[in-house]
Amino acid sequence: PPLESLVGLPDFQWAARHYMNVSAYTYYRNGAAGEWSYRNNLEVFQRYRFRPRVLKDITNIEASLPTTILGYNFSAPFFISPCARGGYAHPDGELGLVQGAAEGNILYMPALYSSKKMNEIYAAKANNSEQVLFQQVYLDGGLNESQQLIQQIEAAGAKAIILTVDSPGDGIRHRAARYSVGSANTEYSLLTWELYHQLSNMTSLPIIPKGIQTVEDAREAVNQGVKAIYLSNHGGRQLDSSPSALEVALEIYNEDPEIFQQVEVFADGGVRYGADILKLLSLGVKAVGVGRPFMYANIYGAEGVARVAEMLKYEMANDAANLGVADIKQIGPEYVNWKSTNAW
Ligand code: FNR
Repeated sequence: PPLESLVGLPDFQWAARHYMNVSAYTYYRNGAAGEWSYRNNLEVFQRYRFRPRVLKDITNIEASLPTTILGYNFSAPFFISPCARGGYAHPDGELGLVQGAAEGNILYMPALYSSKKMNEIYAAKANNSEQVLFQQVYLDGGLNESQQLIQQIEAAGAKAIILTVDSPGDGIRHRAARYSVGSANTEYSLLTWELYHQLSNMTSLPIIPKGIQTVEDAREAVNQGVKAIYLSNHGGRQLDSSPSALEVALEIYNEDPEIFQQVEVFADGGVRYGADILKLLSLGVKAVGVGRPFMYANIYGAEGVARVAEMLKYEMANDAANLGVADIKQIGPEYVNWKSTNAW
């Protein structure tokens, strides 16, 4: 379908399902095992309703969208989560994601297992230098390999390293296995805080753990000196029945809310509407990641990717206005009723 006919993020999944071949689409869509976490990531946002305020001056709402992430300026508090194999949607692969992110002035985090080589992705940056990218990695092997990879990332010009910590083993992926995509790797990796510090000593770039899923690990990460934490259950692709980022953010808010002041908190999983982003921000999350919708949008290349960013900005501003929020950066937990309700 023509790009102009799509009105929201879920439409891109529909378009991708019709356009991509079955095994490629299934790789993107897949969740672990019974896909409870995949579905919960989407449904959890409906269980908490807004508490809209009225008769508020909201005239400057759009101007309050821009924010900083680790000190870098972006046009909105959301980013493109690291997702492998961008080439499944488009022959240009991740180039569409870099260029779409540049067009929308949002952050993109290229994945280590991208279809394009790291150098090619970074060479496609806007003005070949201005655009800020954070590089995702899996590190579990020997220190030599890790050192080489970190040097490669520094040379490419990434501004931070996103270290995925939620995947000691490959997820159980029945849906993908039925179409013979993905691997049946039975090796487990041994990533510990000790290794984290050895890696940190190799670079001046901040290393951000991605896949924090409890208040205990959030606290531990802060105590270990991280600059930011990234709440995620990998889009429900790793451990089925793992919590959504909204549930983890709520746990942190209830049990150790200072964490939101001590480090920047990123979060992703199941975000499909501007309202979902507002709910995460209201708890103190600094920036929200979106994975699959951008990957699906990449069937249209950079244009599709930029269009998703535009849609999310429009929805965020529109929802914030209807919510009576004067400044998106000032949204607080009082704008949401945190008593969980049944969705239907
Ligand atoms: C991912 N994700 C992911 N995460 C990561 O740390 N390294 C990776 O290589 C990948 N690869 C990957 C591929 C695909 C196709 C998907 C859909 C996801 C997880 C990703 O970073 C993010 O956590 C989720 O995608 C967020 O959930 P939503 O927005 O897709 O619901």
